[in-house]
Amino acid sequence: MLSVTDLCVSYGQSEAIHSISFEARKNETVAVMGRNGMGKTTLFKSLIGILPLKSGHVSVDGADISKEESFRRVAKGVGYVPQGRMIFPTLTVEENLRTGLENAKEKVIPEDIYTMFPVLFEMRHRKGGNLSGGQQQQLAIGRALVTNPKVLLLDEPTEGIQPSIIKDIAKALNEIRRLREITIVVSEQVFSFALEVADRMFVIEGGRFVHEADRANIDPARIKQYLSV
Ligand SMILES: Nc1ncnc2c1ncn2[C@@H]1O[C@H](COP(=O)(O)OP(=O)(O)OP(=O)(O)O)[C@@H](O)[C@H]1O
Ligand SMILES: [Mg+2]
Repeated sequence: MLSVTDLCVSYGQSEAIHSISFEARKNETVAVMGRNGMGKTTLFKSLIGILPLKSGHVSVDGADISKEESFRRVAKGVGYVPQGRMIFPTLTVEENLRTGLENAKEKVIPEDIYTMFPVLFEMRHRKGGNLSGGQQQQLAIGRALVTNPKVLLLDEPTEGIQPSIIKDIAKALNEIRRLREITIVVSEQVFSFALEVADRMFVIEGGRFVHEADRANIDPARIKQYLSV
């Protein structure tokens, strides 16, 4: 469903992502694990088109989107939940969800968003800024789902979220996959969270994938070592 080939991304003269290749299937969740500054956000921003590719290709469901602008990538089936959530604090929950539909043909919020996140329904007339961190994360995920993406990208969804709520986010991601059978790519530093959602894990270090493991072959000690400073 998502295919990434020899992806390189630069900030000016300095290359930050060095020839990353991977695939993620329909109804599969993959986690990209890595410490601060290893290149997770740079990778995700290049996948959604906020940063241009220096070289390489990204395709979704067989269509090459490498040169498309972000809104075109959204139209072609990519959803993006940025690091730090980036919801609009002065807009209501419902208005925040509608911002996800700005370039969509169908301007209706799909009903299953509120089924997956009942708290968003309860709070639909409240301002985004009045929600807790965990609720804002659910809102950011809901906003990315309103366009019915085939591939959902989430950049460190547990950052700054209480441990008890992290579990709820893992449940929500598993529920999204069950209901929609989409492809989920999530970057993470929290190993326990990744283990709850991922079918496959990659480790990113210095802008390269240095380790890959299927769920059945995940060696927690090895991955935790990559994550420790
Ligand atoms: N705007 C920028 N200009 C130049 N270099 C940048 C810029 N943003 C990030 N970098 C560099 O690119 C590398 C990867 O950073 P990136 O933000 O992708 O890491 P990350 O894995 O998302 O980290 P974190 O876990 O802290 O979010 C780092 O060396 C960083 O300093
Ligand atoms: Mg980051």
